[in-house]
Amino acid sequence: MSANSPAAVVVLAAGGGTRMKSNSLPKVLHEVCGRSLVGHAVAAAEELTPEQLVVVVGHMREKVEAHLAAHYPSARAVVQEEQKGTGHAVRTALEALAADGVELDGTVIVTTGDAPLLTGATLAALAGAHVGQGNGVTVLTAVVPDPFGYGRILRDGVDGAVSAIVEEKDASDAQREIAEINSGVFAFDAKLLAEALARVTTDNVQGEEYLTDTLEILRTAGHRVGAVVAADYRDILGINDRVQLAQARRLLNDRLLERAMRAGVTVVDPATTWFDVQVSYEPDAVVLPNTQLQGLTHLGEGCEVGPNSTLTDTRVGAGARVSNTTADRAEVGELATAGPYAYLRPGAKLARKAKVGTYVEVKNSELGEGAKVPHLSYIGDATIGEGTNIGAASVTVNYDGVNKHRTVIGAHCRTGSDNMFIAPVTVGDGAYTAAGSVITSDVAPGALGVARAQQRNIAGWVERKRPGTASAQAAAAAAEVAGEA
Ligand code: UD1
Ligand code: CA
Repeated sequence: MSANSPAAVVVLAAGGGTRMKSNSLPKVLHEVCGRSLVGHAVAAAEELTPEQLVVVVGHMREKVEAHLAAHYPSARAVVQEEQKGTGHAVRTALEALAADGVELDGTVIVTTGDAPLLTGATLAALAGAHVGQGNGVTVLTAVVPDPFGYGRILRDGVDGAVSAIVEEKDASDAQREIAEINSGVFAFDAKLLAEALARVTTDNVQGEEYLTDTLEILRTAGHRVGAVVAADYRDILGINDRVQLAQARRLLNDRLLERAMRAGVTVVDPATTWFDVQVSYEPDAVVLPNTQLQGLTHLGEGCEVGPNSTLTDTRVGAGARVSNTTADRAEVGELATAGPYAYLRPGAKLARKAKVGTYVEVKNSELGEGAKVPHLSYIGDATIGEGTNIGAASVTVNYDGVNKHRTVIGAHCRTGSDNMFIAPVTVGDGAYTAAGSVITSDVAPGALGVARAQQRNIAGWVERKRPGTASAQAAAAAAEVAGEA
């Protein structure tokens, strides 16, 4: 943590989120660009390296707690049993810390678990202004086109300083005209926050403890109340329903794509390209339309991905090409190619210049340098050596109904079309296999494996067994032509 680190960041995430109309997912676990709403709040908070990072949970709290434990171990969940207001939520967090003997000294940032566009930089600017101006409390505000539903910022007629926040439901008609709103994000002096919260009442239309009441309490007690106005009101947008969820996702996606383009990535169609927050890339990567890059996907220099591709936690090497492909936890090596119409499943590893072609599925398998599986094949639990070519319509038969087995095919092999490799089985370096073979035993290096029945032709069968058919007539005509020749 740095010298300017806040003593604590408190993320409010206990509310019901009823307008999401979900029976199974708490509001703060809905996702935007590969991260939950609460995950965005925690990630922004982590940028400030606070001494304490607390998330107040309540509604469907088991799910939120499990999610935090799994993905954000730095965050500590504090339970607010009943949602009695934002002031009550913060008080609950401070009391839980105090019960653990944590004495907060310095700045406490309060933020919300449903504003995914709020960045660590905005929080840092708020904290910086708060300390720099010597305020008791500093509120992040924004001037919005439609302030309905938000708390309005009341400013002093003389010096323009913030005097209070009034909630929509408690506001007069004149106050409802005010376009400057409370984002729900604050920086407080820790001691003053605790003192002010002790004096907050439930004397309002909703009968809740409003955190916002602390501003008037502190100002009346003679402390400085400051405000930082967000440069772009969209930074503070809170999510209440799935329409806003989609709008936030679009806005964040636009930001992520803009960052990628400024770093040298060509995005041909930003409208149909979706990036998750953790996607990384190198210059001259090209993303073709209708492509989604998810999780920790990485684009190497000069690679080309798309169109119509979904890559999850997949590394694409420099100069590789991936087209019309679904890939999950795969590695596409330098100058390798996948697709069109490839399915790369977890553990698919394509070395340099390897090729997985059309209608090919690869799972838990390594393809050596320059190895090719060009057409209509399933490669699962296999190792394929460098320079080997797998014939069209081949299957590594890896599953006996109970266990999975490996197929090992050496370097510079040429396997025929329509081969079944019944694993466990090994084909040695430089071996060939004949088309249509069912390879059940190992093939030695340099050998030709042939595993198919000898063909037998029964002359005149059609004329005898299918007389009078078009086939019989065609056969008769062919016999006549052959006779004349
Ligand atoms: C609150 C603010 C309002 C501001 C708006 C910004 C108050 C009284 N009002 O209003 O001025 O413009 O946010 O979005 O603070 N929460 C809890 N426990 C509770 C109540 C709320 O954890 O008991 C959490 C919610 O999950 C949410 C946040 O606090 O993340 C805000 O609560 P919400 O009910 O959405 O407050 P608003 O009425 O929108
Ligand atoms: Ca809200």
